[in-house]
Amino acid sequence: MNSLVQASQAAGSSVGLDVDRITINGGLPLRGRIEVKGAKNLVTKAMVASLLGENVSVLRNVPNISDVRVVRSLLEIHGVDVTEGENPNELRLDPTNVESAHMEEIDAHAGFSRIPILFCGPLLHRLGAAFIPDLGGCRIGDRPIDFHLDALRKFGAVVEKLPQGIRLSAPNGLHGTTVHLPYPSVGATEQVLLTAVRAKGTTELKGAAIEPEIMDLIAVLQKMGAIISYEPNRVILIEGVDKLEGYDHTAIGDRNEAASWASAALATDGDVFVGGAKQQDMMTFLNIFRKAGGGFDITDDGIRFYRKEELKPVVIETDVHPGFMTDWQQPLIVALTQATGESIVHETVYENRFGFTDALNTMGANIVVHPNGLSGTPRRVPRRNLEQAAVINGPTPLHGADIEVPDLRGGFSHLIAALTAEGKSTVSNVGIISRGYENFIVKLQQLGADFVLETK
Ligand code: EPU
Repeated sequence: MNSLVQASQAAGSSVGLDVDRITINGGLPLRGRIEVKGAKNLVTKAMVASLLGENVSVLRNVPNISDVRVVRSLLEIHGVDVTEGENPNELRLDPTNVESAHMEEIDAHAGFSRIPILFCGPLLHRLGAAFIPDLGGCRIGDRPIDFHLDALRKFGAVVEKLPQGIRLSAPNGLHGTTVHLPYPSVGATEQVLLTAVRAKGTTELKGAAIEPEIMDLIAVLQKMGAIISYEPNRVILIEGVDKLEGYDHTAIGDRNEAASWASAALATDGDVFVGGAKQQDMMTFLNIFRKAGGGFDITDDGIRFYRKEELKPVVIETDVHPGFMTDWQQPLIVALTQATGESIVHETVYENRFGFTDALNTMGANIVVHPNGLSGTPRRVPRRNLEQAAVINGPTPLHGADIEVPDLRGGFSHLIAALTAEGKSTVSNVGIISRGYENFIVKLQQLGADFVLETK
C-alpha cells in the first residue's frame, strides 16, 4: 500500500469515514444549506496553545476533522487530558499533568500533519525539552522549517537534527528577541507567538503573517494572559509573562472550507448557503468570485453563493493575507474551466500546487501549467522565486473519469470536478479530504449530489 493510500485511510478512519472511494454521477447543481465550523488552521493551533496554560482551556466550534484528531492525540501523549465538552463541538483541554512523551509514540505521528512543529515553544517552556517528528501535511512543495528553527534558536533553543526528527532543549531558558521573518509565514509567525508569550522579556516580530486565524490565535493568547500588540507594517510586539491561564474560546469559522463550497456552487451552477461564512475574512475571495460571474448574498448567519451570470475568466495571484489565499485557488480553478476565455492563476506561496490539474485535464479541461511562470518576475519567497502559473482556457465540458485525490485542497477540487462533469467519476483516496472538511459526505448529500460510496 503506498503512503498516500495509507495516509488517506488513516485520516478517514480517525473521523469514522469508512469509505475510500466515491462514485459520483455528475452534472447536477449543488443546492441547499450547509454549515462550516471552526477553522482548521486556528483550531489546531489553539489546541497547542492550551499547553501553555496552568489550567483547563475550553475550545468551542471544533470540527470533526482528522487534523484535529492528530493534534488531540499528540497532546494526549504529552499528558494533556482532552475530553469532549458539555456541548457538541466543544473540547476541554487540561494541561495540569504535562509530561514528556516517548519518542516512539511521537514518531507514530510522523508524516500526518505539520502542527507538531508548533509544539516546540510550549514544550520547551513546560518541560525544557521537545522532540518533533518528521512533518507531514499536504504534498504541495518543499515546505521547509528553516524560519521556525532560526526563530527558536534566537530565543535560546538548541536544535539537534536526528534521523526521525528534531530534538530541542533550552539549557538557559527562552528569552525575548527580535525575529525578522524573510517571508510572512503563517506557521513561523505562530511559532514566534507561542514561544514569545512566556519567554523572558519582549519579542519584536517583523514581517509577521496577519491571517485572520493568526489574529484569532492572538485573541486566544490574550485571554490566557499574554500581552501582544499589533503594530503597523506587519510588526507584532510580545511582552513575555510568567504565567498563563486556560482560555474559553469559540473558533472563527473556516473561510477555506466556505470558499471551497462556494466554488462548488459556482462550478455546478448551483445555489449553496454556507452557514458560518464571514464576509470580513473572505473579502478578497468575494471580489474574485464576483468578477468570475458569481453572486453572493451576505447575512449575519452566513453567505449564499450562486452563479449570477455566464462565467468570466479572471487573473489571480495567490498571496499572504489580505491577498488571495493559496488554499482558494484549487477549488476555484474547477469553476474557471467553465468560464468563457482565458484565466491565469499565479501561485506564489507554494512551488507545487497545480498537480491536481492533471486529473482535470483528463476530464476534458484545458489547463497548461508553466512551472517557470509567464513573466519572469521574481515572486515573494526570497531564494526560491516562486512564479508557477496555470493558464485555463474555457469553457470545456468535463466528462467523468477515475481520479485519485493528491492532497487536501486538490482533493476537494477533484470532488468539484466530478460533480461538474457529465457522467460517472470515481474519486479515490477521499479520506485525505477529511483532514480539513468535516462531514463532507453528509454535506454532499444535503446539497443533493448523486453518489455511491465504496467501503474499504
Ligand atoms: N516557508 C519556508 N520556511 C519555513 C516556513 C515556510 O520557506 O520555515 C515557506 C513555505 O515553504 C511556503 C511559504 O513559506 O512556500 C508559506 O508557508 P507558511 O509557513 O505560511 O505555511 P504553513 O504555516 O505551513 C499554513 C496553512 C496552509 C496554508 C498556508 C498559507 C496550516 C496548518 N496550514 O501553512 O494550509 O496554505 O499557511 O496560508 O495552518 C491547507 O489548509 O490546506 C493548508 C495547506
